[in-house]
Order: sequence, then C-alpha cells, then structure tokens
Amino acid sequence: MSHILETLNLVKRFGGLVAVNGVCIRVKRNSLTLLIGPNGAGKTTFVNVCTGVLRPDGGKVFFNPSGRRLDITGWPPHRVYRSGFVRTFQIPQPFLALTVLENVLVALGGRGEGPIVAPLRHLWTGEEEERVRRAFEILRRVGLEDHWDWEAYRLGAGQLKMLEVARALATGAKLIALDEPVGGTDPAYAHEIFKQIRGLAKSLDVTFLVIEHRIDIALPFADYVYVMDRGSVISEGTPDAVASDPKVIKVYIGE
Ligand SMILES: Nc1ncnc2c1ncn2[C@@H]1O[C@H](COP(=O)(O)OP(=O)(O)O)[C@@H](O)[C@H]1O
Ligand SMILES: [Mg+2]
Repeated sequence: MSHILETLNLVKRFGGLVAVNGVCIRVKRNSLTLLIGPNGAGKTTFVNVCTGVLRPDGGKVFFNPSGRRLDITGWPPHRVYRSGFVRTFQIPQPFLALTVLENVLVALGGRGEGPIVAPLRHLWTGEEEERVRRAFEILRRVGLEDHWDWEAYRLGAGQLKMLEVARALATGAKLIALDEPVGGTDPAYAHEIFKQIRGLAKSLDVTFLVIEHRIDIALPFADYVYVMDRGSVISEGTPDAVASDPKVIKVYIGE
C-alpha cells in the first residue's frame, strides 16, 4: 500500500466545538505531506488524535509502517510511538548540556541506559560502536555531522530542529509529524529546513507530515497538501493546485 497514514471521517469535539469535523486524509509513503490552514483550523488537534494524544469522538486512523495496515484508532500515545508514528514533542526534548552525538545516542536507546549517557570512551566497543556508527550516519543525513561534539545549547534554532528530526529518526520512526517546525523563523531559514526534510523523505524510509499555518513557507517543498479550515479539509492537491484554489485564497485573505 502506498499510503502510510489514512484517516476516515475523523472527529474530535471539545464541548460544543467540533475541532476536527470528519477529516479524511491520506499520506503517501516517502512524501512530505503538508497540512496547512489558519490558526484554529484544527491542525494540531488532528495530529493529536492521530498520535493518541487525544481520543477521537469518531472515525478511524490507519497506519501502515511496513506493508501491514494497523488500525491505530484510539491507541495510547506510547503505543502509536512504538509502532513508528512519532510526533516530535513525544520524544523527550534534547538535553541541552549533552552533545549532539550523545542526544542521538540517547534516542537510539540501548539496554538500561536511560537518559544517563555513559562517558563516551565506554561506548566504543562492539554493539556500542555500532550505535555510534548509526548515530553518525543519522547526523550526516540531517547535516549535523560536523557538529557532533557540540553541546546542543550551542546550536541555532534550525539546527536544533534538525536534531529533533535526527532523534525521531533514531527511534526508528517511519512517519514523523512536525507541528510548525519552523515557527517564528525567517523564510530563508525555513526553506533550508524544509529542503532538508524533503531530502530525507526521498532518501530514507521515512515520511513527513508537516503542519504549518503560513501558506507561503512550506508549499514549494510539499508533495501533497491538505488545507484545513474550521475543522474540515477545504482543499487538497499539489502545491500549485491548492495555491490557486479560490477557497484557499479566500481563507488566507480572510486572515
Ligand atoms: N484542549 C482543548 N480544549 C478546548 N478547545 C480546544 C483545545 N485544543 C484546541 N481547542 C480548540 O480547537 C480549535 C482547533 O485548535 P487547534 O487544533 O489548535 O488549531 P490549529 O492547530 O489549526 O491552530 C480551536 O478553536 C481551539 O481553540
Ligand atoms: Mg496548531
């Protein structure tokens, strides 16, 4: 099956407010799929329901990480996470005092290590050496290889975001949901991050579902776009198709 995620008529209510109102989306494997819409459209709620952070009031969520479709509707967040669908905020935040490499090693896990990383020299043996090799491979993919020995607090906002992605990759995630990954950053910076994320989707066995409220920032990098407004999908298609859809233009002009 070419779709890694599919939702059917997903519904989430908060009291009388229908925050997610019968949303159907399909995310193609190895794509960068973008979910845009103005503030309050229901984007974050949608992802929260998909990843188990919130329980749906109706509908279905299907996740297909590796050729077998799982009905993950209503699964608790840790179970969704373990199945390979990761929302970056579910991963503990980077440890700012640890190095970039150490942060990825923590996410790679290992026996009984927990958040406390043994001094590096103890890592350079056998199985540990393999983990370090994998961590470096991931850092190379996200463009942080040259910063492996930097403490995370020295990284810029964009690099920190890529470290989050690196750590999601290290958990073995097959689908990574990023909620406004470039929030507040300037467009040039944001474009660089989206370019890298798109590159990862094309070169690794991973798919990205990216949420963004601004229409101009991520559109050129998306394979497919869903536009939400007031709980519903109002448009979907290629970036060009949604950008020229009068319904989308109306929503964004209204903002
Ligand atoms: N925990 C909550 N309790 C009540 N209302 C909520 C809650 N979370 C979100 N909402 C409301 O649901 C709607 C959708 O919010 P949200 O999913 O955060 O939108 P978006 O991420 O697109 O900006 C908004 O009207 C918001 O106020
Ligand atoms: Mg949001």
